[in-house]
Amino acid sequence: MDVFRIEGPVRLSGSVTVNGSKNASLPIMAAAILAPGKSVLKAAPHLSDISVCGQLLRRLGCKLNRGQNRDLTIDSTVIDNPVGEYDIVRRMRASICILGPLLARCRRAKVSMPGGCAIGYRPVDIHLRGLRELGAKVNLKNGYIVADAPRGLKGKEVFLGGPFGSTVLGTANVLMAATLAKGQTTIESAACEPEIVDLANCLNTMGAKINGIGSPRLTVEGVKYLEPFQHTVIPDRIEAGTFMAAAAITKGRLQINNCRLADVMAVVDKLRSIGVTVESADSGCVVARTGPLKTAEITTQPFPGFPTDLQAQFMALLALTKGNSIIIEKIFPDRFMHVAELSRMAANLRKEGSTVIVAGVKKLIAAPVMASDLRASAALVLAALAAEGTTTVNRVYHIDRGYEKIEQRLNPVGAKITRESI
Ligand code: EPU
Repeated sequence: MDVFRIEGPVRLSGSVTVNGSKNASLPIMAAAILAPGKSVLKAAPHLSDISVCGQLLRRLGCKLNRGQNRDLTIDSTVIDNPVGEYDIVRRMRASICILGPLLARCRRAKVSMPGGCAIGYRPVDIHLRGLRELGAKVNLKNGYIVADAPRGLKGKEVFLGGPFGSTVLGTANVLMAATLAKGQTTIESAACEPEIVDLANCLNTMGAKINGIGSPRLTVEGVKYLEPFQHTVIPDRIEAGTFMAAAAITKGRLQINNCRLADVMAVVDKLRSIGVTVESADSGCVVARTGPLKTAEITTQPFPGFPTDLQAQFMALLALTKGNSIIIEKIFPDRFMHVAELSRMAANLRKEGSTVIVAGVKKLIAAPVMASDLRASAALVLAALAAEGTTTVNRVYHIDRGYEKIEQRLNPVGAKITRESI
């Protein structure tokens, strides 16, 4: 198992480039199921979640090949085992997004019900409700979701709102299923995240007829077949936001390339409000901090609000402001595993339900800490860059799920991160 030893404090300066989006890549890889043949996903990041998704597709019968320039070819000519097995789904919840495409193509699918998750209870009831609306029979058997639509799916009005807003992967599942359904589907309360926009754009290049892309109402005119895609995935907005927070927490200056500011406006707005400069540059932006940080109130929300996937990183950042900040988590109310670990680094945090009061401290102090999930581990890396001393971050495999070789990308701009196998 790998650990990071991170020496701090450092000041980051220079330029970093954002990779292709993990959360856009995963449902687009699943979209390859819809069209027999060779699809190519360009700019696919080298991440363990992408490899796990590859294994999942291979078990279905697909062939995958990594080419040059991060091209990932998925040959879905044969799908003879429409089953998402437990041993893979338990490693990556996003595996659930093969359910809709398998139902559409094979008219049946069996996918393990995702289990527990470090960021809290994550049901898939809305996914299943949406697919039932399209005419699928969906049952639970021995821990598996068993879905059948022997005569094919039928378009309908589907409402995907839930207690915490819409659902990103639920929208992906129902949208992909609807592309090959008979007739028109209207998805109300669809997720508007850039990853869903990217998926919908990719589906349209395959021959799907989707309107309203980027809005909470998607209309889909079902077609008889789709063609394989050649698609370049969008830049990862969460990686971009993490680099922004890294510049800010280290009082540094980073040029962040391959970053679409429109995808991170809530984050940019928050950074500006606490005294960090963000200026747009050629293919991205320059983020710089010269003075002290001001306090903030952050409430996570569906896009275009502040993303839950940056809540932990911004908690690390706000830990070093003068005064009290408030963070309210409205998407995953229990996503606070990082609170205890940041406290071990001398952050002053008080959790009340799904709210954390961050009382700023003058400095963070290095400590051995444990990564618990992907974004929590990014927060620990950020805290370690600013903390005094050498921090050891255990269970680095969590960060490798969503950030490609982060040490090799931050060390050239001033970080001192060593990966060690223990
Ligand atoms: N929800 C339900 N029922 C459902 C589905 C969702 O109640 O059937 C609830 C969830 O429990 C949550 C809220 O709805 O409270 C939103 O969850 P959503 O379904 O949108 O999450 P997701 O699609 O499973 C994706 C990302 C997450 C990101 C969330 C929210 C991928 C692979 N995952 O998950 O990313 O936090 O959207 O933006 O796209 C990460 O990258 O670290 C990560 C966790």
